[in-house]
Amino acid sequence: MVVQAEGAEAVVGEETFLGLSCVRKTRPVKRYRHPALDRRLRGERLRTEVRLLRDARRAGVRTPVVLDVDLEASSLMLEKLEGPTLAAVLTEAGGTEATRGTACQQWGHALGQLHRAGISHGDLTASNVLSCEGNVALLDLSLGARAASLEALGVDLHLVREDLNTLCSDAEPLFARFLAGYRAAFPQGHAEVEERAQEIQGRVRYS
Ligand SMILES: Nc1ncnc2c1ncn2[C@@H]1O[C@H](COP(=O)(O)OP(=O)(O)OP(=O)(O)O)[C@@H](O)[C@H]1O
Ligand SMILES: [Mg+2]
Repeated sequence: MVVQAEGAEAVVGEETFLGLSCVRKTRPVKRYRHPALDRRLRGERLRTEVRLLRDARRAGVRTPVVLDVDLEASSLMLEKLEGPTLAAVLTEAGGTEATRGTACQQWGHALGQLHRAGISHGDLTASNVLSCEGNVALLDLSLGARAASLEALGVDLHLVREDLNTLCSDAEPLFARFLAGYRAAFPQGHAEVEERAQEIQGRVRYS
């Protein structure tokens, strides 16, 4: 297996499965955790990820198809999506304003579709979004929730803003493009979530 990326929790590598180019994502045992707790956490995240990748797709958001699940090994076989992460698109030297703005608007639209279906993502940084086939695809939904609380939706929006601030010097106009996409996809609920995200930002700033 070629190790492609080692994120916060998982080891991700490319493999061929049934002749298809795939990605195997495995959560290795964490020795610093109590073994029973570690097993429970890895199991929960795997199950949540499988469920939400499917629910998100039903809500109209592109996500990798799950091809195989191995609960014992805490491992998933996923369709490999081609394309750079949004973090790469946004920080690439020479990336045009138009390309970066469109990517943010698509990112916002995808989150609006997710939230409209009542799903939170839980870890929506630009590294968990791919620019793929002229649109965006969302990855890494293991910390998300179905029937998510308003707070969880607000946290998603807040995290996007924070991540843009970390990655880009022109974060504000990019966040405005993000919000344009978000509002278009979630006309009934966006205002309430935006208000909560503001409140969260205030809490973080003054705590
Ligand atoms: N299906 C896929 N197709 C293409 N690239 C992928 C796919 N899944 C993951 N990747 C790449 O691997 C990286 C890490 O994957 P992912 O974000 O799912 O893992 P992680 O952050 O370690 O996981 P977690 O936080 O759930 O434990 C992604 O940023 C992306 O570059
Ligand atoms: Mg990730």
